Amino acid sequence: MERIICSDNLTALKGLADNSVDLCYIDPPFFTSKTYSVIWGDNSEIRQFDDSFGDKDSGGRMHKDIQKYLDWMEPRLKEIYRVLKPTGSFYLHCDWHADAYLRVMCDGIFEREPNSVIVWKRTNGGKAQAETFAYITDTILYYSKSDTFNFHKQFQQYTEEQLKKFNKKDEKGVYYLRALNARGQQAYEGRKITTYKGCTGMWVNSIETIQELDKEGEIVLGENMIYKKQRPQEGVPIPNIWDDISLVGGNESFGYPTQKPEALLERIIQASSNEGDIVLDAFCGCGTALAVAKRLKRQYIGVDISPTACRLVAWRLNGYLKDKGKEWNEMAYKEFNAASYVEGLPLTPEEIAGLTGFEFQNWITRELGANPGKAGADGGIDGMLNGVPIQVKKYKAGRNDLDSFIGTLVRKNSKEGIFIALDFPTTIPQEIRRLEKENGYKITAWTFKDILDGKAKKHDGLP
Ligand SMILES: C[S@@+](CC[C@H](N)C(=O)[O-])C[C@H]1O[C@@H](n2cnc3c(N)ncnc32)[C@H](O)[C@@H]1O
Repeated sequence: MERIICSDNLTALKGLADNSVDLCYIDPPFFTSKTYSVIWGDNSEIRQFDDSFGDKDSGGRMHKDIQKYLDWMEPRLKEIYRVLKPTGSFYLHCDWHADAYLRVMCDGIFEREPNSVIVWKRTNGGKAQAETFAYITDTILYYSKSDTFNFHKQFQQYTEEQLKKFNKKDEKGVYYLRALNARGQQAYEGRKITTYKGCTGMWVNSIETIQELDKEGEIVLGENMIYKKQRPQEGVPIPNIWDDISLVGGNESFGYPTQKPEALLERIIQASSNEGDIVLDAFCGCGTALAVAKRLKRQYIGVDISPTACRLVAWRLNGYLKDKGKEWNEMAYKEFNAASYVEGLPLTPEEIAGLTGFEFQNWITRELGANPGKAGADGGIDGMLNGVPIQVKKYKAGRNDLDSFIGTLVRKNSKEGIFIALDFPTTIPQEIRRLEKENGYKITAWTFKDILDGKAKKHDGLP
């Protein structure tokens, strides 16, 4: 299964079967009250998402409302719980803005161990302008649906310093002696005092295990102390603080705001899934989790509400070729047919008219190669194409709209204009001919359908 779904994830999640997903990772808005925006490539595509939960006052100032955010998250978390298999795991990426609230909420929904908190130290230096201790960590809440869950221990490579610890050697290789007495927290975990070959203490292993190890020559007895020959494993087992993964940089960047590093997703996917398993990312952004899932031979389902994000995911998973370089990839991205990979991408004139803000702007930019500025905003000029003013109406525009566009052209001192609308009445070509004949205006009128059919691109003198 390889699915990319362009939709609100609450709707998409409701369409997934109970107990069908092995691993879900999500990286939702963090309740930061920011809009994350990047303008990418020579086609000026805007890659953006909004993280504002609250109400604006009459002066337009946003007042954050954590309850609004939690009310929005809760049904999504419940759906994720429902779609996870009983052996499934869930990772929720967040940060200090809402991690405490989300943890309480998830504790209530998931109920089961492990409910661990992973701290990802994403950078080393704090910001010089920070007014207090700078935040350099994100939080990843980790849950399983039941007590029987998939987990493969992950290891970090030993450092030179750590390897020096293995200072003894026998015929099996190097080791150091690790005392098996319970210390600190281990002493409070219900262990009993037991005796083995004259050594009495509270041991971290059972007497049966110690006996087994002894038979294999892995135990050394000291003065009332049992030692185990600790041999190097594949590396150091990774604890819950991850400080060895840096932020996305250089070649890995797809220009998507808050894109996460592949190494982070690799650790999560390898720890909590097997080849062939289904990995779900319900806030997939530019598709990091899906790209890693695909590389590691997992199946995947990605959901994002943004058509721009979904196009990019489809491209990353099916079009992008790392060895071809940035320039080649940017060119090929423009021609890539994302619609054959994404479910729910807006494609009809009416669906296009439903796009808001930067999504609509990206559509115009992609289709016409124009840099439309604030396309979609009614009134005034919405952008320029080869020096010609454009105006866009997201409805069936009539003669009054055309007259008001002429008024705008007069103010802009332009005798040429491009008038784009969802549709026009049949009388518009006649009106345009009249304007040219009587006043010398050269107006080009395109419906959204003309643009979708590629007719607009073929127009004289335009790309
Ligand atoms: C922090 S970004 C995810 C980045 C991603 N982990 C990556 O590496 O690219 C959050 C994403 O959630 C998406 N999003 C926000 N609300 C959504 C909703 N209701 N349904 C689906 N996606 C949503 C946004 O469009 C944005 O792409």
